[in-house]
Amino acid sequence: MCAAKVIDGKKFAEGLRGRIATAIAGLKSDHDLEPGLAVVLVGEDPASQVYVRNKAKQTVEVGMKSVEHKLDASTSEADLLAVVEQLNNDPTIHGILVQLPLPDHIDENKVINSINPDKDVDGFHVINTGRLATGQDSLVPCTPVGSVMLAKDALGSLSGLEAVVIGRSNIVGKPVAQLLLQENCTVTIAHSRTKDLPGVVGRADLVIAAVGRAEMVKGDWLKPGACVIDVGINRIERDGKNRIVGDCDYEDCAKTAGSITPVPGGVGPMTIACLLHNTVHAACAIKGVPVPEM
Ligand code: GUN
Repeated sequence: MCAAKVIDGKKFAEGLRGRIATAIAGLKSDHDLEPGLAVVLVGEDPASQVYVRNKAKQTVEVGMKSVEHKLDASTSEADLLAVVEQLNNDPTIHGILVQLPLPDHIDENKVINSINPDKDVDGFHVINTGRLATGQDSLVPCTPVGSVMLAKDALGSLSGLEAVVIGRSNIVGKPVAQLLLQENCTVTIAHSRTKDLPGVVGRADLVIAAVGRAEMVKGDWLKPGACVIDVGINRIERDGKNRIVGDCDYEDCAKTAGSITPVPGGVGPMTIACLLHNTVHAACAIKGVPVPEM
């Protein structure tokens, strides 16, 4: 039985992309500004390839310029840095995303920090993480923004709520905790070494699961009525079939939660929509025009 309200990220993301497309049409006609997004993929990781293909498709659908650089897995760090530098200097490109993970012989931090922070639409550059942590205007990582948008859609104001983030990655855990602090939540970041994880999760009005372990969070861990935002995308085999599941045991959690995101169809579609949103922000800031309502 599913008592929880299902939070439809696919529908929310479609609405957001529609508003972004309208905003871009206005930027083109009023300011002769066509936002441009460049994606750099090194190697042939199948999940990254699917992701990059979807990004390119949706970028074009909202009316943006889309550029892709697909580099061989053996590409040197110096050659990758040269591609980033070329994009930094390209006036038609306002957003640069280097798909992670990178091959082991490349220093990920060095590459991320070589991106012009004003074009860092992932929000991973140390300047943007610092700006976010100190409450200054910044480009903010896409999955955390999408997660908080869905939580606010389900709960309204988040002010004063107990939020538990499971996972402490630079991509999701740490930035989503910063955003929840800005929303006036009381924030706990739990992780693999947390003692009594079910007890900690049981305090939460809002659970953000971003730990990368299939179906780890169980229904009896949750405070009844909690909002569950599941960021996990895990490939498993069940009954001889390949499936994608989240970090939460969906059927079980839906019995106790007040609202919950499904996997797929929850946070996943929000990530690319928020990337497009960030690219519009970056383009407006670079060109010095007001950011349209989206
Ligand atoms: N790999 C998995 N998620 C992301 C993301 O949000 N941005 C980049 N650049 N790589 C990723």
